[in-house]
Amino acid sequence: MEQTIIVTGGAGYIGSHTVVELQNSGYQVAIIDDLSNSNLKMLGQIEKITGKRPVFFEFDLCDFQRLDQCLAELKNPVAIIHFAAKKAVGESVEKPLLYYRTNIQSLLNLLELMPKYGIPNFVFSSSCTVYGQPEQLPVNEQTPFQPAASPYGNTKQVCEEILLDTARAQADLQVISLRYFNPVGAHDTALIGELPTGVPNNLVPFITQTAAGIRKELKVFGSDYNTPDGTAIRDYIHIVDLAQAHVVALERLLANANEKSYEFFNLGTGKGSSVLEVVNAFESATRVPLNYRIVERRPGDVEQIYADTTLANQVLGWKAQRGLEDMMRTAWKWQTEGAGKLL
Ligand code: UFG
Repeated sequence: MEQTIIVTGGAGYIGSHTVVELQNSGYQVAIIDDLSNSNLKMLGQIEKITGKRPVFFEFDLCDFQRLDQCLAELKNPVAIIHFAAKKAVGESVEKPLLYYRTNIQSLLNLLELMPKYGIPNFVFSSSCTVYGQPEQLPVNEQTPFQPAASPYGNTKQVCEEILLDTARAQADLQVISLRYFNPVGAHDTALIGELPTGVPNNLVPFITQTAAGIRKELKVFGSDYNTPDGTAIRDYIHIVDLAQAHVVALERLLANANEKSYEFFNLGTGKGSSVLEVVNAFESATRVPLNYRIVERRPGDVEQIYADTTLANQVLGWKAQRGLEDMMRTAWKWQTEGAGKLL
């Protein structure tokens, strides 16, 4: 019989790609999503790719009673993959309480109810934001946390601490946190991808919307960083590689192959790319010229960060396969063939 996996935030960007990989690997998926930053049409899109529509519950995970009721309805789920969260850095500075309540309360509610329903396994969406601007690059998992640069970043640090303490205290809870670097790109079918609401904050959706004529120009934030071309460096990872890592992490927990009750892994490619390198990769992958202008640095941005991925490579046996051009090609295909039809 197929095992059931609960995916919170499963209609969102990373969630939807992970649901596809889970269903393609033979798991039954139940999504919980409040649709606050996602679209119900994603379910139909997932069905087009996998031939199967995931079970769906629409509610806010901060509603403890509703969550309790939902878990009672599901038949012996074996794991939860928890994506649902607020994720806009700037908004978190303006509305810190919204971020603390949403991101922390939802985690507490899940953790409190897991023992009641005998759910032992938990995979958590963390972020490289927990490292701040690290003193040494690349960052490995032993690199200490720096003070968080935003309430959003702080929620990821606090959630990881809550998970560590809870996994230590409860013998039947096994947790893996995955620290994402910069997820970009879309599914090759262009049936699912990122759907930013309003003006995108992130680089790649801004690039594709500019190339499509929705935005006038891309502003490159800062060219006076201490990097080879002066623009900031990040470790961009293809969304499908990232989604597949969740299946691998889940299977490690299901096989009881984890060495500790709380483990954490960096998910990146190990390669840093500057903003201008991303712009060039976009132009060369798509042959579409991009209108851009260099402006002031964006407050709160770190100069550079990229992952040491040795631990995920060796322990999970997972390695990102797709390069920057593939990320740009699929992001553009999604922009031109997919996103418009869903908005
Ligand atoms: N950038 C531009 N112009 C834009 C948008 C971004 O030049 O219009 C630059 C940024 O300054 C940065 C790089 O492109 O140097 C990447 O910016 P993103 O906003 O795409 O990504 P961030 O690295 O700032 O943020 C990501 C996630 C956050 C997470 C953070 C952790 O989106 O959720 O990594 O570092 F907190």
